[in-house]
Amino acid sequence: MIPYYSDKFVQIYHGDCRELLSQVPPVDLILTDPPYALQFTGESFDALATGAVERSWATRGLTMTSTPKTTPSLYREINPRCGGCGRAVNGADTAKGFKVCQCEYVTELAPWPNSAMVRLHEWHMGWIVEAFNALNNGGSLAAFASTRTLGRLSCAIEDSGFSMRDVINWHHDGGVGRNSSSLRTAYEPCVWARKPHRPGEEVPWLTGAPSTTNLIYTPKPDNHEREEHPTQKPVSLFRTLIQLFDAKTIIDPFMGSGTTLRAAKDLGVRAIGIELEEEYCEIAAKRMSQIAMKL
Ligand SMILES: C[S@@+](CC[C@H](N)C(=O)[O-])C[C@H]1O[C@@H](n2cnc3c(N)ncnc32)[C@H](O)[C@@H]1O
Repeated sequence: MIPYYSDKFVQIYHGDCRELLSQVPPVDLILTDPPYALQFTGESFDALATGAVERSWATRGLTMTSTPKTTPSLYREINPRCGGCGRAVNGADTAKGFKVCQCEYVTELAPWPNSAMVRLHEWHMGWIVEAFNALNNGGSLAAFASTRTLGRLSCAIEDSGFSMRDVINWHHDGGVGRNSSSLRTAYEPCVWARKPHRPGEEVPWLTGAPSTTNLIYTPKPDNHEREEHPTQKPVSLFRTLIQLFDAKTIIDPFMGSGTTLRAAKDLGVRAIGIELEEEYCEIAAKRMSQIAMKL
């Protein structure tokens, strides 16, 4: 596999993590920020990888009871339209310039296509089973979610064989209220789970536990830090998490603009990033070439 970018600490791969995760060496920590399934913007990364889940389960001697199907646009299905005004009911596609439904009562009555949320669960399974295989025994998975889609992510993590440990909250104050049917977001949850290990196996433990709390406060990236990525997280957040998990090797399968890798490199930790969109690989590669941010 040829990296898009490589240096002493960091490697970037351009492609689909559901295909590439099986080709990278196992690590201590998978620290990632997958699409929240609120603002899926196209067809490229919300289509389910048919067969990926079964293949991964088969390598572990397991079989699935249901077969995930390819969906053309999960985005559309989990963002239903109001039966009254025809606008998006949950505000998610304001990013695409649509107006949001203000008919509160219709919002409440609008049929929610649960089958789409089941498919979101399966979409998560598609990468999480690969993430499980890409971790050393006792290694941790820490994955961000929105408060509305956290449940599906958590269940998929648990169903993939991980042991749930906690939900770490990134508190930032910085969300924007959408309409009178949603609260202003001031935190984003990060599910932490561990791959089981055998008795006697040496595994990484947390730094600072048990006195460290499961709440991290750090502001959203300011203009000085911001890159051309719509959901960029702050480097300081990932730096805190990497130090907490005391990881020596990391993978971020949904790398975006490379924030996890920048934090890892600043700390002298080796990290691999995978990203589907080439333009974000390019931004991340540029960030890796910059001088380390002040710690
Ligand atoms: C929430 S963003 C990550 C943002 C990142 N934390 C940052 O600070 O820039 C999720 C990223 O995952 C990428 N992505 C979506 N599906 C993917 C897949 N199957 N494989 C690899 N990357 C994917 C998207 O293009 C997007 O850039």
